[in-house]
Parts: sequence; structure tokens; C-alpha cells
Amino acid sequence: MRRIPIVGGNWKMNTNCASARTLAAAVASSHRASSGVEVVLFPPFPYLIEVGAVLRDSAVMLGAQDLCHEADGAFTGEVSAAMLRDCGCTWVLVGHSERRHLIGESDELVNHKTLAAVRAGLNVILCIGETRAQREGGQTDAVNTGQLTAGLRGVTADQMKRVVIAYEPVWAIGTGLTATPEDAQAAHAAVRRTLAGLFNSTIAEATRIEYGGSMKPGNAAGLMRMQDIDGGLIGGASLNAGDFGAIVHAAAQS
Ligand code: PGA
Repeated sequence: MRRIPIVGGNWKMNTNCASARTLAAAVASSHRASSGVEVVLFPPFPYLIEVGAVLRDSAVMLGAQDLCHEADGAFTGEVSAAMLRDCGCTWVLVGHSERRHLIGESDELVNHKTLAAVRAGLNVILCIGETRAQREGGQTDAVNTGQLTAGLRGVTADQMKRVVIAYEPVWAIGTGLTATPEDAQAAHAAVRRTLAGLFNSTIAEATRIEYGGSMKPGNAAGLMRMQDIDGGLIGGASLNAGDFGAIVHAAAQS
């Protein structure tokens, strides 16, 4: 099945208001809908409206890096799905490894966030992936299966149309280490098998699974050429419009 590649730029806690606008403008000016690749930028919360304004007439979509699992109320510091939609977001990241491992988000919380997002009509990139110790212990597929099963609990077959999975081995994120295309492909194929078990083979074949973890212009083509790799979630390289554009181009060729 032909799946439309998707490339996300996760800016994390980087940029300021001016540089966010400049970076978004550079990405928007070089991306055309006709490229056949979906492109989403994930700026920090305070710059969502500014970046959304820059992207308004472009083919680049807007997403947030996180959301609250609750709809509204006394949750100091949190941001709801409805607020994100109000700011122009159509996408949200859920379960990024930095939130799981640095902030301490549990599988259960990640699941509640996923449900809050899809129920509000947002598209979700659900991030999963193993640590170095888990990989060395032969646990990669078991960890991914566990995070997928827990993260997608209660998500309906229809809501899966709005879910993308990002396989991001924790040891590859921000480290310059990348999974080999073959290792990444093996993990992606296992993720797809898990999706078939959780839902059915049609949904498994239709769901996009993107790779994240030190994807750069130099390794993007090799990764995205693999059968089950449908794009990338880019951190460091997304802060440079030229590098990010080169990765989008590699996705378009894949
Ligand atoms: P990286 O980050 O490209 O800097 O490794 C990827 C991510 O965290 O999504």
C-alpha cells in the first residue's frame, strides 16, 4: 500500500519568537503540497500563534509538542486539546521520549493524552521506542509492543486514521547515533505487526510509521527507502531549514 510520507520538525525548547517566525517562513517557502509529503512543524507553545500565522497560506501544517489529558479546569500550566485547535494546530506529539524519561510520563498518561487528542479531532504522532539498555537486552520489540498497546488503549479503528506512530529509539535521539536502516526497518515491521494484532491488517497497512533519532540529510534517504519507514520526526536537523528541506526531499523520493 502507498502511504503518504510525513515529516515532522520537533523544535523542542528551542528558538525565540523572531527565529521561530524566520525558520517557519523558510520551511514554508520551500515546501509545496505537490511534493507528495506531509510536513508538520512543532514549535514551542508560546510561538504557536505566530508560527501559525506564518504558515497560514502554505502547505506546512502546525502541531504542538504536548497537550493535557484533561479538557479544561484547574490544571495550572497545562494546555488543552481545544486550546491547541484554537491556536490553529491540527497535530500534536504524544509520548515523546523526553516527556516519558525526563518528565516521567507513564504509559497510562500517554494513553489519556492520546485519547484526549483524537477525541478533540487532533491528529496525533504517538512516540515509542526503547532505551539503550532495553535494546542491548533484546527488549526492543517487547518495549514497542507494550508502549503501543498501552498508548492506543481505547482508540477506535476510525480514530486510527488520525494517528501516526513515531519509532524513536531513545539512544538515537539527539546523540548523533542512528539505527541502521535494517534495524529500523525490523522495528517498524514489528510495530506494523503489533498494529495488525491490536486492530486489523488494513489499519496496520494504512498507518504511517515514521522514524526519529538523529535523522539528518546524510542518512534520511537510506532510512526512508525502507518499506515500513514512512517519514521522519526530526529534532536537531529541523532547526536548520536547509537540512530539514533536504530530509523532506528525501521523503519525497522514497
Ligand atoms: P533528534 O530528535 O533528531 O535531535 O535526534 C528527534 C526527536 O526527538 O524527535
